[in-house]
Amino acid sequence: MEILLDTAHLEDIRRYHKIYHITGVTSNPTILAREKGDFFPLLEAIRELIGHKQLHVQLTGNTSEDMLKEAEAISRKLGKETYMKVPTNEVGIETMKRLKEQGYKITATAIYMPQQAMIAASVGADYVAPYFNRISNMNVEGKNVVSEIAHLFKLHHCSTKILAASFKNTQQIMDALMAGAEAVTATPELYSQMVENPMIDAAITGFTADWEKTYGGKRIFEL
Ligand code: G3P
Repeated sequence: MEILLDTAHLEDIRRYHKIYHITGVTSNPTILAREKGDFFPLLEAIRELIGHKQLHVQLTGNTSEDMLKEAEAISRKLGKETYMKVPTNEVGIETMKRLKEQGYKITATAIYMPQQAMIAASVGADYVAPYFNRISNMNVEGKNVVSEIAHLFKLHHCSTKILAASFKNTQQIMDALMAGAEAVTATPELYSQMVENPMIDAAITGFTADWEKTYGGKRIFEL
């Protein structure tokens, strides 16, 4: 199971990287626009924080030629191991095919339908990123889309992995993983919400009170 951070916020990346077992960081133009800092300096700072862990960066060109040049620049500055996120339309598919021939790692993004995932996998995408919440906003079950993709890949012995994205709550993350996604990327806040709630606090407070009643302020290593 792979857990990625869908953010370019340096402080969050530093903090969550320390607490959780993070596979890497994903970004897109909207996520980068939320942060201060120019494109390459910001991404270089992220690369420095995460070392050789996965970094997924979206290409923004309108043509395959432009996207190939962008991939070259990104790989020069951030390392060849950087995943090139390519939107999955026809220009994107051509780009993925050409990038793959040149040995790049690819994440096919903006996936709403299994059909896109199938075509992206056929040109060698390493990951496909279904947009769980955005799919659900279209009155389509996000988990059905993920599960169909997972079934399709299994049936055809496809090595492409599912990196589910676009989550608005922790249940959606669980649904994506239960439906067969190998990886999820979400905002740091959603990971916190998985292990922080008033019921958990109440349980811990109860144990602390009983401990203090019995052993005062002493810690176990002092007994
Ligand atoms: O990185 C792509 C995906 O996470 C988009 O999420 O929240 O804009 O739907 P959102």
